[in-house]
Amino acid sequence: MNERRVGIVMNGVTGRMGLRQHLERSIVAIREQGGLPAADGTMIIPEPILVGRNELKLRRIAEQHGLTRWTTDLSEALAEPDVEIYFDSSLTQLREKGVRAAVEAGKAIYCEKPIAESLDAAIDLARLVRDAGLKNGIVQDKLSLPGLRKLKRLVDGGFFGRILSVRGDFGYWVFEGDWQEAQRPSWNYKLEEGGGIILDMFCHWRYVLDQTFGQVKSVYCQGATHIPTRVDEQGNEYAATADDSAYGIFELEGGIIAQMNSSWATRVFRDELVEFHVDGTEGSAVAGLRNCRAQHRSATPKPVWNPDLPATEKFRDQWATVPDNEVFDNGFKVQWEMFLRHVVDDAPFTWDFVEAAKGVQLAELGLQSWREGRKLEVPALDLGGHL
Ligand SMILES: NC(=O)c1ccc[n+]([C@@H]2O[C@H](COP(=O)([O-])OP(=O)(O)OC[C@H]3O[C@@H](n4cnc5c(N)ncnc54)[C@H](O)[C@@H]3O)[C@@H](O)[C@H]2O)c1
Repeated sequence: MNERRVGIVMNGVTGRMGLRQHLERSIVAIREQGGLPAADGTMIIPEPILVGRNELKLRRIAEQHGLTRWTTDLSEALAEPDVEIYFDSSLTQLREKGVRAAVEAGKAIYCEKPIAESLDAAIDLARLVRDAGLKNGIVQDKLSLPGLRKLKRLVDGGFFGRILSVRGDFGYWVFEGDWQEAQRPSWNYKLEEGGGIILDMFCHWRYVLDQTFGQVKSVYCQGATHIPTRVDEQGNEYAATADDSAYGIFELEGGIIAQMNSSWATRVFRDELVEFHVDGTEGSAVAGLRNCRAQHRSATPKPVWNPDLPATEKFRDQWATVPDNEVFDNGFKVQWEMFLRHVVDDAPFTWDFVEAAKGVQLAELGLQSWREGRKLEVPALDLGGHL
């Protein structure tokens, strides 16, 4: 069988997302399944070159996965003749620099979110790749989650009638690092290192809301830093300068009201770490990462408010499980496969740097809304030129 080897510079593979989701569950998984069939039947085989700061870690990761190529020098990696794609899952703060180097080298570029720390920088990168004619993509993994895929199926099938509202709850307790180690890197809690839950999560909420229910038209956001002091990976106490919780209200096209709670300072009393409750005139649904339950108008109970009596019904039991009806692969891998086909076969890939900039735009407006204590419109993005 014919093979098409595609060199991919993977920057940031020693990190949580880079290692687990992008290298192990996506690129190594595609290699282990024998590659990815291209349109003409040729097998696309990704050939990663691991890039990071720590030689020892890189060598260990490479050896664990039967890989031979790694370096601490990004420009050396980008100069390898077989490299077609630059991938970046390094620190948010470092992304812009890496992407600019890849543009210079003329590579297709695929990135973790957020694409940059500011909207100006995000738009600049979108313009750069457009003007250089380079293929580009941003990770929008939540769209491929089984729970959200089933929810989208309900939306597309007209299950809800007119959608009224969406209530999203995301979060869990991230340990402060004193008596139990924190389960997220400390940079997330430092504004000066690109941290903050608004910049992190509003990128996700933008594409989830836009692409599942309707374009986001306005935002009101109240942020908070509930835990002001944390302890880092070296055991040193530091001031948590970034927001660790955000309470957002969004107006979507069609008059839909969405509320999203995002918090690293909440204890989970839900079935999954993120849940979306959608109410419509014809039915409602609750979707998590994997599961989705629905209740049709015809099966809706009629509770009567009476605080003097205990609840007479088990409300959770009245919801029907939405069946899978298909096999769901890892969401990161699904998007990698789409991006590889985009590069090799010119197959469509809609989640480009303009979509990436929209996420940063919502985060920036959320931060501004919090600062100014007011609701802000979300204007259409203007890249200028011929886009
Ligand atoms: N799509 C998602 O659901 C999702 C989830 C979490 C994080 N992310 C994004 O992925 C990116 C990485 O997040 P993470 O949680 O994996 O972080 P991480 O801290 O685990 O990894 C960051 C990577 O950057 C490297 N790095 C750190 N400091 C550096 C420096 N000074 N110079 C060079 N390299 C340095 C680290 O070695 C590591 O490889 C972030 O931009 C984050 O927003 C996305």
